[in-house]
Amino acid sequence: MNKKTIASFIIALSISLTACGNMGKPIVSDEVVSKTETSAKELQDDTANKTQSINYLTLVNKLNSVPDGWENSLETVTITNSLGDDVEVEKKAYDAYVELKAELEKDGINVDLASARRSVEEQQGVMDKFIKTYGAEYATKTVAAPGYSEHHTGLALDLYLNIDGEDVYSKKDMVKYTEIWEKIHKKISEYGFILRYLEDKEYITGYGYEPWHLRYIDDVKIAQEITAKGLTLEEYLGVVNSSDVNVDLGTSEMYTEEELKEAAIQVKCKFATFKGCELQSVRYIGDGSNTQDNIRWLNSLNEGAEYIKVAEFITDFHTPKEGSESFIADQDVRAYPWWLAQNKDGGWHLVKWGYY
Ligand code: DAL
Ligand code: ZN
Repeated sequence: MNKKTIASFIIALSISLTACGNMGKPIVSDEVVSKTETSAKELQDDTANKTQSINYLTLVNKLNSVPDGWENSLETVTITNSLGDDVEVEKKAYDAYVELKAELEKDGINVDLASARRSVEEQQGVMDKFIKTYGAEYATKTVAAPGYSEHHTGLALDLYLNIDGEDVYSKKDMVKYTEIWEKIHKKISEYGFILRYLEDKEYITGYGYEPWHLRYIDDVKIAQEITAKGLTLEEYLGVVNSSDVNVDLGTSEMYTEEELKEAAIQVKCKFATFKGCELQSVRYIGDGSNTQDNIRWLNSLNEGAEYIKVAEFITDFHTPKEGSESFIADQDVRAYPWWLAQNKDGGWHLVKWGYY
């Protein structure tokens, strides 16, 4: 289906895109409604007042960059780990980590800090290294874009293990120690941490499972609730819907299955911000949308873009029963389009979505 054909769908449904057009700005806004007993928005404000400093529930993810001026009220400590690397951590997060570490040692589990606060430049360094070593596709799945990493906050802690006196810090080796991670994860909420990148929640967080990446939220009760319910921070804050479906990747001679899966994750992450909507299907519609016309069109939408390939997905979904600012109540939306593009370095950019 090309863009002109899709335009004919407009008449059926008028959907505003205001809810999803906030790339780079916090999603958390006055319209946030928490699914939990207490409004997460209230809790965010409350936490901000209590500390008079940073908001420990601040959401930083693929769609929300670290807030401007964050570092102005950030207090950090810098320690040297067993590998000789300096690691900077937000102060309260570090104090909590020290207690957690001592508690784990009682069970014979030894952890250390591989990485915590990273500047935008340092994150770029991590990204460049991953692109060079593993390629752009894997890098964007694993490493946040500079400016959009939770590590900028100082509240994200990457652990590594020491097993029988040997440091184990490569990700491929660390994932093998599932029982040890399980034991660690059972303890973290008592110290105000949550596990940020859960298994099977990639469609919400945008990243695969990271057993080592803890996020400090400075509230044991909330950390325990989030952990007990198996939530992501996005779900707890009520900024996403949690509906998921299998993706129909169709057939393609241009893209690998892995590339299409990663593109679909980006679609789902964005869809997850369509509050109250229920996802019914996600489908790659085939290579026919990769026309020169569409490549030119997507390039014209982003100044400086140099896209060379495009991919189009479509979704079916149902709008919220009660309606919302953005959606007409209780409607089936069909063949809602999502346009992604790649430049010569690979990696997907979700450029445009919705009727137009
Ligand atoms: N690995 C996490 C997603 C980061 O780079 O922030
Ligand atoms: Zn991390």
